[in-house]
Amino acid sequence: MATNASYAAALIIGFSLLFAVTAEDPYRFFEWNVTYGDIYPLGVRQQGILINGKFPGPDIYSVTNDNLIINVYNRLDEPFLLSWSGILQRRNSFVDGVYGTTCPIPPGKNYTYILQVKDQIGTFYYFPSLAFHKAAGGFGGIRILSSSSIPVPFPDPAGDYTVLIGDWYKSSHTDLKAQLDSGKKLPLPDGILINGLGSGATLYVYRGKTIRLRISNVGLQDSLNFRIQDHKMVLVEVEGTHTLQITLSSLDVHVGQSYSVLVYADQPAHDYYMVVSSRFSSAALTTTGVLRYRNSSGGVSGPVPGGPPIQIDWSLNQARAIRSNLTASGPRPNPQGSYHYGSINITRTIRIANAAGQVKEKQRYAANSVSFIPADTPLKLADYFKIDGVYKVGSIQSQPIGKAMYLDTSVLQVDYQAFVEIVFENSEDILQSWHLDGHHFWVVGMNGGQWSPDSRKEYNLQDAVARCTVQVYPSSWTAIYVALDNVGMWNLRSEFWASQYLGQQFYVRVYTNSTSLKDESLIPKNALLCGRATGRRTRPV
Ligand SMILES: *[C@@H]1O[C@H](CO)[C@@H](O)[C@H](O)[C@H]1NC(C)=O
Ligand SMILES: *[C@@H]1O[C@H](CO)[C@@H](O)[C@H](O)[C@H]1NC(C)=O
Ligand SMILES: *[C@@H]1O[C@H](CO)[C@@H](O)[C@H](O)[C@H]1NC(C)=O
Ligand SMILES: *[C@@H]1O[C@H](CO)[C@@H](O)[C@H](O)[C@H]1NC(C)=O
Ligand SMILES: *[C@@H]1O[C@H](CO)[C@@H](O)[C@H](O)[C@H]1NC(C)=O
Ligand SMILES: *[C@@H]1O[C@H](CO)[C@@H](O)[C@H](O)[C@H]1NC(C)=O
Repeated sequence: MATNASYAAALIIGFSLLFAVTAEDPYRFFEWNVTYGDIYPLGVRQQGILINGKFPGPDIYSVTNDNLIINVYNRLDEPFLLSWSGILQRRNSFVDGVYGTTCPIPPGKNYTYILQVKDQIGTFYYFPSLAFHKAAGGFGGIRILSSSSIPVPFPDPAGDYTVLIGDWYKSSHTDLKAQLDSGKKLPLPDGILINGLGSGATLYVYRGKTIRLRISNVGLQDSLNFRIQDHKMVLVEVEGTHTLQITLSSLDVHVGQSYSVLVYADQPAHDYYMVVSSRFSSAALTTTGVLRYRNSSGGVSGPVPGGPPIQIDWSLNQARAIRSNLTASGPRPNPQGSYHYGSINITRTIRIANAAGQVKEKQRYAANSVSFIPADTPLKLADYFKIDGVYKVGSIQSQPIGKAMYLDTSVLQVDYQAFVEIVFENSEDILQSWHLDGHHFWVVGMNGGQWSPDSRKEYNLQDAVARCTVQVYPSSWTAIYVALDNVGMWNLRSEFWASQYLGQQFYVRVYTNSTSLKDESLIPKNALLCGRATGRRTRPV
């Protein structure tokens, strides 16, 4: 730590000339080469997207308030961007790394992301956001540890592992993209990976010790159930919130979500199956890895433990049991639950209904009847440089409109500092998963059937978890509260990767007429410019 910090200090002087940065907080520097390379996750050779030669990419280790300086060299033959699931980037949507905020890094070029994990703790991940790159890798874990002065509500584990799980295809990302571009649906996946392996991923533990597993579903569509033979798991964290510690035999992890569990190695020193299986999917897929005790006296034995009941209710009940520990500290010394979200007046209710259908005989997906199409210029840059005609505010309604699906560059405007209720209404027979960039939100309720104002009576206004990705069960609704306290252009998207690719996403423009730097940062000096923003200056001369 000490050497890192002084190394960083020496570089800060150079960097601060280039970038506007906060001086006190430590720096971590990353140099990342993004390349194609051969991988064999399901036994056949595939072209993977590697970061510094690795699939999955390296973990980012950080501590609350660290500055992360990540220089990404795109050595692919097509434009590339990374995005950061759950990293908040306050007042700075320019570096969010999605097509509506950030220009793609051209082949052969590099771009340095300057992020700060300000007031955050917990388990997140990064992923490639453009085209269908996520089907080829390019993702990795992000962990933000509490600073040493702030207590964590459980003893330090003896081991701390990133466990990236996800469905996987033998087809290349370019094949899958070509199928979607031609108007087809995404086929069913071929398998499930644990940390990039179709089988045999191994985690080590000493008998009598506890390990922490940071589980993220980085796949393209399937909800997954995670379990370990003969072991219980204690849930401790969900996307930056310390939870009430509940003991689980298995955990449902919906696409895009992250959870931390503790596993206490209290069994005889053997190998145990670590199992991940698909949920609510027509392809019943299972993969196994191994929890191996040090000095294990033998391999895995006995049947692979089966999953929980397939009924939605089991999963819904588990989701509702996940609550904040109101006395545990978060990123700051005051208890994170002391934010009384339940007693703030709602300034606006937004209802979002998802739909699948065809537009011009091609498969598309929509929110409130609009199927998103990208513009020729990142929306955030159009705003910044006041370029007209890139998108229209109000191109998506804040309620379902019951119209036939149509294409547009959908942007919903909300006032800065509004405290908003968003109800996700899923009348389809699939399990939906929504993610909002730039904010964490309280999951106040979810249930089957149609949402109505009466549904508010069943909201949890005391100890809901704050997170950034939430599931909506088939023919069900999920309600969230969100404080829109981060000015910028923020992507709200389905985490079903084919659905978001084919239009199930839009941007939330959190707007103020203030031009104060306290409300929104200037565009980074090194921002890449593209589309109609090409040739503009990031700073006045
Ligand atoms: C990235 O690739 C370049 C060129 O191949 C190489 O010189 C450099 O050392 C690589 N950096 C890392 C961190 O792998
Ligand atoms: C590309 O990397 C160089 C250092 O190798 C850095 O000076 C430059 O700012 C980077 N480019 C961008 C756009 O961030
Ligand atoms: C593992 O076995 C070695 C050699 O038998 C022994 O020295 C060591 O204490 C054992 N470790 C544990 C954790 O049991
Ligand atoms: C909540 O957090 C406190 C630490 O502030 C801890 O002592 C307690 O065990 C936690 N309770 C539960 C149920 O997780
Ligand atoms: C919320 O609204 C109610 C009724 O309009 C009002 O009485 C109350 O003062 C408001 N509370 C806050 C915190 O603004
Ligand atoms: C911003 O809008 C508010 C309310 O409409 C107005 O009172 C204020 O003068 C505006 N400020 C600026 C800087 O335009």
